[in-house]
Amino acid sequence: MNKPKYGGKNRMIGFDFIEKEMMKLKEISILEIGSLRFPDSWDGHGCATLFFAWLVNNHPKAKFVTVDIDPKCIDNAVKATNKLGISNNVKFITADAIDLFKGKNVIEKLDCVYLDGWDYFPNSQSEKKHFELFKLVDEYIKVGGYLLIDDMYSPTSGKGELIIPNVLESKRYIMVIHGYMVVLKKIKE
Ligand SMILES: C[S@@+](CC[C@H](N)C(=O)[O-])C[C@H]1O[C@@H](n2cnc3c(N)ncnc32)[C@H](O)[C@@H]1O
Repeated sequence: MNKPKYGGKNRMIGFDFIEKEMMKLKEISILEIGSLRFPDSWDGHGCATLFFAWLVNNHPKAKFVTVDIDPKCIDNAVKATNKLGISNNVKFITADAIDLFKGKNVIEKLDCVYLDGWDYFPNSQSEKKHFELFKLVDEYIKVGGYLLIDDMYSPTSGKGELIIPNVLESKRYIMVIHGYMVVLKKIKE
């Protein structure tokens, strides 16, 4: 299938960048937290799951794992990717992401991690949950790999508001794209 128009302007810059970076690699492994909520959505919710599924189906040696606590979202992701013919190389996991990775279920190094779980709203604890999860998966992100965080409503408010200052201050990641969807590159362990 042709390259989709995904995620509106807010995310397109980041996805275009990641597509180019991933296509340079001989093998890629991508993890997404929070899967397709609305079926067939290339724009906004759902765009990332379909984008990554499309990407790994257009790469000779790629894997994509998407995790969601809600079986309906996983079912949507399975059906939508099947319908578009992009479900090869995709693994769908229904689980609480923190429980899953506390159990050390990440088994290989990752080139790209996309954090888009717990919805962010006042007192939601979303930023705390994302930070807790990040600390579990960080060790699996390759040096040179990318961390993407969706829904940054401002530089200091959104799903990554605890992660971003932490990784920048420690000088282990650099900010590559600072928009509604943030792209960070890991530069050292
Ligand atoms: C914004 S949606 C994800 C959209 C998707 N990333 C996309 O763009 O294609 C957020 C998802 O996070 C999931 N979620 C919430 N808490 C979670 C948890 N503890 N573990 C895994 N997924 C969770 C929700 O069920 C919801 O489907």
